[in-house]
Amino acid sequence: MELDIQLTEHTSKIYIERDARLHLKDYVNLDCKVMVITDQGVPKQYHQEILDQCENGYLYVAKQGEGTKSFPVYEDILQKLLELNFSRKDLVLALGGGVIGDLSGFVAGTFKRGMRFASIPTTTLSQIDSSIGGKVAVNLGEVKNVVGTFYHPEVVVIDLNTVKTLTRRHYHNGLVEAVKAGLIADAKLFELFEKADNVDDHLEEIIVRALKVKKSVVEQDEKEENLRKILNFGHTIGHAIESIYHLEGYYHGECVGMGMMKILENPKIKERLGRVLLKLEVPLEAEYDTDEVIDFIKKDKKANGDYVTIVQVDKIGEAKLLPVEIESLRGKTL
Ligand SMILES: NC(=O)c1ccc[n+]([C@@H]2O[C@H](COP(=O)([O-])OP(=O)(O)OC[C@H]3O[C@@H](n4cnc5c(N)ncnc54)[C@H](O)[C@@H]3O)[C@@H](O)[C@H]2O)c1
Ligand SMILES: [Zn+2]
Repeated sequence: MELDIQLTEHTSKIYIERDARLHLKDYVNLDCKVMVITDQGVPKQYHQEILDQCENGYLYVAKQGEGTKSFPVYEDILQKLLELNFSRKDLVLALGGGVIGDLSGFVAGTFKRGMRFASIPTTTLSQIDSSIGGKVAVNLGEVKNVVGTFYHPEVVVIDLNTVKTLTRRHYHNGLVEAVKAGLIADAKLFELFEKADNVDDHLEEIIVRALKVKKSVVEQDEKEENLRKILNFGHTIGHAIESIYHLEGYYHGECVGMGMMKILENPKIKERLGRVLLKLEVPLEAEYDTDEVIDFIKKDKKANGDYVTIVQVDKIGEAKLLPVEIESLRGKTL
């Protein structure tokens, strides 16, 4: 299965195939130096399988976890690229989840003002969401994604078999972004979650449908000037919860799930979402101090003075953007 993301100056190719990681040359030109960036949590077997296919390959293995999306690691990789005399025609290949994808894309986008970049996302979250759309970044201390840019990979190779080694918690965490995609733009996708006895049996359809939602939105609004904001459904409160727990207590998708539950106004949709989230074994709410959530939203880069644009869903498959006064969210976060 192949999808193209057509952008103003660039087209990203996405291939979705089981075991695609084992024949990478069908998708990516590897006739150059290749820096494979991965982390310790990605099974070593995958590291080796990828490296074996690169004639001139190097492996950078970072620690696992959000802490890797940081300036020290970013600088360390740049230093290695420089020492190894990488040029703009050489390739950075991300092998891992969203942490590795975001970091590697930022490395590729900034080293010598931009070198070749491809990615093999290996978590459900990165396959469904973070590997496409071009947002790449590192965190500044605990402030997430505050230093970054838009830099699109030339190719994304999605091998559905790689997620078999994920913990169940990470596996379900990523699926929440697909539930979100269904709620904002694809009612059938949301209903698939409701109807499925076993969500795993529908993984390919879930990923393809969610990617099509993201493709369509990103193609219409590459730089998040307007429409693309609908992808942030559940994220205003979700990001705040993530930060309050210092990026350690809950995973990103889990926070998005809780954020959607808080912001939804339509009781019927809220009830249906609650049932889907329970099926995915993700939490429906967390304990936090409301003042901290409001303070965080005020500081968020997406807020504009006393207002923030939130996403609301009154009908499954359709999203609305609404500017709201941040203080009015106080009631919702209680
Ligand atoms: N760029 C975007 O548009 C975008 C969108 C959403 C989220 N994100 C970012 O993505 C990050 C979260 O991504 P994530 O949930 O993939 O987390 P992650 O990258 O930390 O991966 C989760 C864990 O799974 C391990 N892992 C990865 N692949 C594995 C595999 N196949 N088998 C076993 N273990 C594996 C990793 O080592 C890690 O410990 C956050 O930093 C978030 O900000 C970015
Ligand atoms: Zn998200």
